[in-house]
Amino acid sequence: MLFPVPKAWAERAHVNAEALAAARRRADEDPHGYWKDLAGRLDWITPPTKIKDVSLRTEDFRIRWYEDGVLNVSANCIDRHLRHRANDVALIWEGDDPAASRKITYAELHEQVCRMANVFKAQGVTKGDRVTIYLPMIPEAAYAMLACARIGAVHSVVFAGFSPDSLSGRINDCDSKLVITADEGVRGGKRIPLKANVDAALAHCPGVEKVLVVTRTGAHVPLTAGRDIIYEHAAAKASIHCAPEPMNAEDPLFILYTSGSTGKPKGVLHTTGGYLVWASWTHEAVFDYRPGEVYWCTADIGWVTGHTYIVYGPLANGATSVMFEGVPNYPCNSRFWQVIDKHKVEIFYTAPTALRALMREGEAPVERTSRASLRLLGSVGEPINPEAWLWYHRVVGESRCPIVDTWWQTETGGTLMTPLPGADALKPGSACGPMPGVKPELVDAEGVVLEGATEGNLVLTDSWPGQMRTVYGDHQRFIETYFTTYPGKYFTGDGCRRDADGYYWITGRVDDVLNVSGHRLGTAEVESALVAHPRVAEAAVVGYPHPIKGQGIYCYVTLNAGVEASESLRKELIDWVRREIGPIATPDVIQWAPGLPKTRSGKIMRRILRKIAENELENLGDTSTLADPSVVDDLVKNRAGA
Ligand code: WTA
Repeated sequence: MLFPVPKAWAERAHVNAEALAAARRRADEDPHGYWKDLAGRLDWITPPTKIKDVSLRTEDFRIRWYEDGVLNVSANCIDRHLRHRANDVALIWEGDDPAASRKITYAELHEQVCRMANVFKAQGVTKGDRVTIYLPMIPEAAYAMLACARIGAVHSVVFAGFSPDSLSGRINDCDSKLVITADEGVRGGKRIPLKANVDAALAHCPGVEKVLVVTRTGAHVPLTAGRDIIYEHAAAKASIHCAPEPMNAEDPLFILYTSGSTGKPKGVLHTTGGYLVWASWTHEAVFDYRPGEVYWCTADIGWVTGHTYIVYGPLANGATSVMFEGVPNYPCNSRFWQVIDKHKVEIFYTAPTALRALMREGEAPVERTSRASLRLLGSVGEPINPEAWLWYHRVVGESRCPIVDTWWQTETGGTLMTPLPGADALKPGSACGPMPGVKPELVDAEGVVLEGATEGNLVLTDSWPGQMRTVYGDHQRFIETYFTTYPGKYFTGDGCRRDADGYYWITGRVDDVLNVSGHRLGTAEVESALVAHPRVAEAAVVGYPHPIKGQGIYCYVTLNAGVEASESLRKELIDWVRREIGPIATPDVIQWAPGLPKTRSGKIMRRILRKIAENELENLGDTSTLADPSVVDDLVKNRAGA
């Protein structure tokens, strides 16, 4: 199935087919000129002359973009718009309660960010210091990110759905001395005790000196004397002027923790110049954004999508960006579409998991709304199944709006593969092809490059400006994780198919990373939460296909000798994991496993566990190398229905 580029799009888009072909050619033939010109979209204090210095080989590994350039991200996202667009709306905040919304102009944004930057400074934050942001989806979250950028502090946003334990791990890993949070968060009519979570986390964080508490609900929260400060009290005394700190292009901008196949989440570090170039260019090209349009990305700022496509990309482009505190099904299943009508949203960007959940509710909740303002739809975070794509296209977009299926990762900073709506015919479920200058390749397990229509592991053979620069505090882990599986190439961890027309189809992770409702989670994290329970001896966790979440979490649990399996213990373990990591990690299935399939050297054979979870029992493969093959028979016999 092919959806051709609508004529109006081909005529009007920033990037049509010819422009795209020309950009690809130029990126190949004159990379220096291509990347240099791309940087020209930002305001530089000192424009870069050194454009790209990259080697992905371990011997002389380096990734540097625009390395002699000097700029400030907050000045690019705010100050440079003040001359002509001070009164344009930068952020539209839509509260959880449909009666609550607010518009923040660029002039106001400037004031608020400067004020918060001064509060940070007054608390001793200086250039290079790390600040942890644990806030709900309120404007202060964006202010806090930009305020850090303004003074050269490095932010680490922690998703407000993470537990105290997850939060303390992230605070300690990057050694934040300041945390900014809120009294409570509000989502789907429920309150989330953010300040209480911070209090619990800080019992294990000796390095934190100050906690700023933004008032969201006004709930009474205990304050620790000498440590906790009500943000509004501090802000009332702060000046609304704060000069932006000149930053080198390669100075860190933020750290964002994400899950990998092993160990603890790693601190993905992005730098100033290249990241903002990539955020701003992809936001404009992919969404065909032009000033004055209302654009809405439904992600949470706790994830990279929120960083790049709610805050940095749109604001760098002077856009009007909607920030939504709530959830798609509160107070009713029409909420997304009501918000679109309320704010006349033209570009809408969301995740397949939300679409699948809404699709289940039928077409009526969509059709009750107008959606006449919409002209472009986007999808991100996980593969979109053709059925959900077609529903999105026909029901939500009334067959009028192209869909950009954007493939990227926390590590990539911004979109790498996507159709461009004025240039590419669409195939439902395909991320189409690379942005100009991005070099995908499919390889087999041994690293042999696969040509033509084929399927393999997705690697990138060269850098792009928005690429992560290191794992915070562990550069060796960065190189080993991403550049040694296929030496000299960046390994994405994703599988991918390329069809005869050259379209790319991401098939999902090939490593032990789960994608649950578009949220990344390591199987190792869930396992270590389970084995931390006093009654659990061993656990193995795999993903399985889930109709709404994309992937569900399937846990095989071996209990300690003498412990009786029971329904109440099952519930207890589910609650335990939620408390240890956060609700996104809630196990879907727990199967009691008297033994796990292991090789004679003790390695768990996950391949077999995955097959059982997927209910592909005919296809278990060779089990003869197992220390005890009868374990498998037991697991199959007692398979928990998922
Ligand atoms: C998956 C989110 C298919 C992929 C931006 C990737 C996708 C992981 C798509 C990164 C897409 C993201 N189609 N799969 N359009 N977008 N993914 O770091 O498996 O939270 O590796 O970044 O999500 O998740 P992350």
